[in-house]
Amino acid sequence: METFLTRAHYEEAAAFVRSRIRQQPTIGLVLGSGLGGLADAVEDAEIIAATEIPHWPHSTVSGHSGRLVIGRLEGQTILVQQGRAHYYEGYSIQQVTLPIRVMQLLGLHSVIITNAAGAINPAYEPGDVMLIEDQLNLMGMAGVSPLRGPNDPSLGPRFPDMSVPYDREWRALAIAVAAEAGLKLHRGVYCGLAGPSFESPAELRFLRLAGADAVGMSTVPEVIVARHGGLRVLGFSGISNKANLDGSTITTHEEVLEAGKVLVPKLTTLVRGVLRRMKV
Ligand code: HPA
Repeated sequence: METFLTRAHYEEAAAFVRSRIRQQPTIGLVLGSGLGGLADAVEDAEIIAATEIPHWPHSTVSGHSGRLVIGRLEGQTILVQQGRAHYYEGYSIQQVTLPIRVMQLLGLHSVIITNAAGAINPAYEPGDVMLIEDQLNLMGMAGVSPLRGPNDPSLGPRFPDMSVPYDREWRALAIAVAAEAGLKLHRGVYCGLAGPSFESPAELRFLRLAGADAVGMSTVPEVIVARHGGLRVLGFSGISNKANLDGSTITTHEEVLEAGKVLVPKLTTLVRGVLRRMKV
């Protein structure tokens, strides 16, 4: 029998984080593969190692450092999750999304989620950024949902609405920030898969037919939990590679980390600009 995490687990993790910080964060920021450098700009940083927090899933993947950084950026108090755990590492899908529950219990109103993704849309190039407008929850459609199991109504509804997973107002802010900075920003659909194998050419052609513009191994379960818990979501995919629709090239994790170097300055501009303008 599968064991499910409960509010008590989330409360324990949240209480530990609360006991270690003086600041009250209001916005979360989840950093994807190779994008950890985005945390460097945080001022008055209070840092917690992920390994210290009860029940926290720590990543075993290179390019994910496993820290929480709480501090100030562009006039906001933010909580940065530097490094995430993935389902393919062997964590349950509820463990993977525990950090989002902690953000919910700490009272954050929004979360900005970033990831590294492969481009399915042929117009996208490595180093480009995509604003996530919608998502394909292939893992969830196949049964791997963080909301599977008993529902705790104090955390969210049994059947949460998913008609607008990515907040309209925050997306409009991102588009405005990109235009002002002269930064190319694609808008598309992110498809979340379990991984860890990259996709076969036939799988990629299938995903393209299904309407996916970018593909990765994270984000979607986090967005489901965030929406369930009433957090507003903004999402960016850093395009690290062109997906291999005809089998002529191969995709490597090194390539994904390398693209992060080009992507960090662009995502920093976008995240800073959005934070500066976010008002609730
Ligand atoms: N496929 C899946 N996940 C990824 C990719 C990819 O091509 N690139 C970065 N994460």
